[in-house]
Amino acid sequence: MSEQETPSPRRRDFLFYATGGAGAAAVGSGIWPLVNSMNTSASAQPWTFDIDVSDMQPGTEISVQFEGRPIFIRRRTAGDIAAARSTPLSELPDTHARNANRPEADASDSNRTIPPFNGEDRGEWLVVEGICTHLGCAPLGDGMGDFNARFCPCHGAHFDTAGRARQGPAPTNMAIPRAEFVDATTLALKETGRFSFQRQ
Ligand code: FES
Repeated sequence: MSEQETPSPRRRDFLFYATGGAGAAAVGSGIWPLVNSMNTSASAQPWTFDIDVSDMQPGTEISVQFEGRPIFIRRRTAGDIAAARSTPLSELPDTHARNANRPEADASDSNRTIPPFNGEDRGEWLVVEGICTHLGCAPLGDGMGDFNARFCPCHGAHFDTAGRARQGPAPTNMAIPRAEFVDATTLALKETGRFSFQRQ
């Protein structure tokens, strides 16, 4: 195979944990089938992890591990979206999107989600690092805290349905990793190199 024909390195990712609908308090309540079709060809191109989200209904959430950190993927309900979009920027402690895909954007809800592949962007897909921006605990969710989304019990940080810091000591919004939909049902997380990651 010529260099031009070498496929981009890509892993069909594993779904490590799945939660149920709104109100499910902990990850791990169900395990989804694992599929691995890792491409092992050597390349300087960044790795991506492909995650099949075709089974996810509004109000469901999964957690995967990528580059050594948890990533929460939520398909938001209409209520989640409406709550986030009705919040003015002036009420946010952090007005930056903290979205690696839109580094200069503000924290408006429309800048906090991953758009679908060739579809109408209804703001359904929230993808955030599952790390509290105060001191790094794992926020509980979904449907927890004063904003019916996430709550970090370590020191009492509340996050809203867009993963934005709202109350308590968390200084910034939950980080959004590099990600995009590569087809209608596949979300790809993109390697950043910020965290240790063992290529196999
Ligand atoms: Fe989450 Fe302190 S680590 S509130």
